[in-house]
Amino acid sequence: MLSTGTQKYSVTIGKITSLKFEDKDVLLVTSKNLEHLYLEYMLSIIKAKSVNVCVVDDGEMHKNMQTIDEILESAFKHKLHRNALMIALGGGVITDMVGFASGIFQRGIDFISIPTTLLAMVDASVGGKCGVNNKYGKNLIGLFHQPKQVFVAPMFLRTLPERELLAGVAEIIKIFACFEYSLLQNFNMLDIEFYIQKSIELKAQVVEKDEKERHDLRALLNYGHTFGHAIELEGGYSEFLHGEAVSMGIVMANRLSVKLGILSSDIDMFICALLKRIGLPTHYKIKDIDSFYNAFFYDKKSLDSKLHFILLESKEVVKATVHNNIDKQIIYEVLHEFA
Ligand SMILES: NC(=O)c1ccc[n+]([C@@H]2O[C@H](COP(=O)([O-])OP(=O)(O)OC[C@H]3O[C@@H](n4cnc5c(N)ncnc54)[C@H](O)[C@@H]3O)[C@@H](O)[C@H]2O)c1
Repeated sequence: MLSTGTQKYSVTIGKITSLKFEDKDVLLVTSKNLEHLYLEYMLSIIKAKSVNVCVVDDGEMHKNMQTIDEILESAFKHKLHRNALMIALGGGVITDMVGFASGIFQRGIDFISIPTTLLAMVDASVGGKCGVNNKYGKNLIGLFHQPKQVFVAPMFLRTLPERELLAGVAEIIKIFACFEYSLLQNFNMLDIEFYIQKSIELKAQVVEKDEKERHDLRALLNYGHTFGHAIELEGGYSEFLHGEAVSMGIVMANRLSVKLGILSSDIDMFICALLKRIGLPTHYKIKDIDSFYNAFFYDKKSLDSKLHFILLESKEVVKATVHNNIDKQIIYEVLHEFA
């Protein structure tokens, strides 16, 4: 059971065999890829007053206000009322959009999350951050809206392309590095179900203490992301998957930590070798250093025009901390290593 300031909800891990909402009208929202793979199965196990379906286009480029409007249009067309329920069946893109659409439909109705990618299972489906992109950047429009329940069924991973699976592993490594570094020793992909459960537990602990990122705690989940977002921007959001950019971003952030003398180079090398062994990219070649640096300021976390870096430190224990006053010269030295 996860308990935030605004909601208590359970995250159930295992096979989904039946979903009963007999007094509710349901709008199941999914994307075209998942419609072919799982819609029939999902419709066979949901028992509700009515089950309506809204299928939207796949991909980050459709995570925008236009698709939110399509979901709302479908909810109105099917005459959903305030006690209706939306179900998100999909990866992080669907999870974020359904969280958002249900959060504003008639001033907010309940939603349930059924993540189908590893990244959505361990990260996007828990914590209630729901945002869409616009021309100014990623996830800049949205709200905090916690799901009523989350069902994590690892069986969905069987059809997930390898590249997407590895992108999710990058987020697992991120969360372990920040909060339980010992789990990275002997990291083995065969233990993926245990790692899913552990990642959710660790993220839940963070969300319970700092739901709306008012303190520095939830911000720590952005380890690797300041560099990662700049990589995604330079690649036009199509060259790399989010998790791949995070993997390279983690390596860059660690290099900055080493330069600042707060992380041992053994740990830097260990994490880099682990990411590489798993099959994730670890070296990004920056196209233009000045615009890469300027991209840091478009990051949501830097809208107060100060740069905030989440960096790993190794003192008695390895942990992530927030750094606000890093000399531009040092950041440039790190960027030159990747140019
Ligand atoms: N809200 C949060 O806290 C949070 C956290 C992390 C990431 N995110 C967001 O998540 C998004 C990325 O999510 P993602 O990596 O899941 O990408 P995604 O939702 O785009 O899914 C990736 C691809 O995999 C396909 N797919 C999904 N499940 C499948 C399955 N079981 N079998 C076969 N194909 C399947 C999808 O159709 C899509 O083409 C980003 O927009 C990011 O901003 C949000």
